[in-house]
Amino acid sequence: MVDFHQIVQKYFDIKHIKSVQNFNTHVIVTLENAPEDENKAAELKNELLRLDGVENASIIFTRKKAPEVSFGLEKWQIKGIKHIIGVASGKGGVGKSTTAVNLALALADLGQKVAIFDADIYGPSIPTMLSFENTPPVSYDGKIFEPFENFGVKAMSIGSLIDRDTPLIWRGSKAVGAIEQMLKETNWGEIDVMVIDMPPGTGDIQITLSQRICFDGIVIVSTPQDIALIDAVKGVNMFEKIGVKILGLVQNMSCYICPHCGKPTYIFGQDGAKETADRLGIKFLGDVPLDIDIRQTSDSGTPIVAALPDSLQTKAYTKIADKVLKSL
Ligand SMILES: Nc1ncnc2c1ncn2[C@@H]1O[C@H](COP(=O)(O)OP(=O)(O)O)[C@@H](O)[C@H]1O
Ligand SMILES: [Mg+2]
Repeated sequence: MVDFHQIVQKYFDIKHIKSVQNFNTHVIVTLENAPEDENKAAELKNELLRLDGVENASIIFTRKKAPEVSFGLEKWQIKGIKHIIGVASGKGGVGKSTTAVNLALALADLGQKVAIFDADIYGPSIPTMLSFENTPPVSYDGKIFEPFENFGVKAMSIGSLIDRDTPLIWRGSKAVGAIEQMLKETNWGEIDVMVIDMPPGTGDIQITLSQRICFDGIVIVSTPQDIALIDAVKGVNMFEKIGVKILGLVQNMSCYICPHCGKPTYIFGQDGAKETADRLGIKFLGDVPLDIDIRQTSDSGTPIVAALPDSLQTKAYTKIADKVLKSL
């Protein structure tokens, strides 16, 4: 078996390597306090992608201590948007995008005019989840993009501007500018709530976005495993330092629902996320089970809230959406 950790060590000092995980065929490297060297990250990514059985690789920079933030940066003016909610996580692969997209659909079902913006430069997945992958955005005047619209939700993704093969160095250095351009130069119309799928981690890009976007608040997504929780906690600290409100914590993949008998099994214990939320003084917004329908529906382009509106899983998202709306 290939030792991913050893490969990562060729590029980054072992003291900066927080975790190296392989989700299916997607290798996610989480670095902590490493110098944000996009060249090295791109080389590492390329080496990982050359390995058999690796289809995707993400290198995520996080910081234990939030770096110095400069206050008073001018916020971006995004026309027509009343409220903006960020969906964030301390690391990749925890179900941030799945949560963001189903939260957006659930908010629309509650009567809101909703938009979703995919700002995840490391692995934009909203185009797949909302069935507009490989469709270039339309612009009638060559300046303003028309948003995609599916299941009653308007959508735009940084993935529509940068393709998967674009090296990380480009994405890193130009990401903020590209995100600003797409947010401002899309014909959103009148929107009550925009949900932004943030890049995972707590590096420089995330900090800049948090300072530039006029967020009403952030929803943090975490799995019950302790490491993920600790990473999520770092996210909390970063946002609070910048002065962005945390709306609360969603515990994703909280339990496994047996597809045959429907019985829930709490593989990682039942209340870890809830206890952590209490300890940090942030709201617990709800649980979403680890469930095959949730994965299959979003991977196939019709998220569960649209595909199975009467299911228990959809109810879990509706409950979260309801709490989020009330906290705005
Ligand atoms: N509650 C869940 N049950 C089953 N699969 C899930 C659940 N949440 C996410 N997934 C699956 O896990 C993978 C990672 O989720 P994703 O939302 O893309 O994570 P992130 O955006 O945090 O990287 C995807 O294949 C997704 O379908
Ligand atoms: Mg994602």
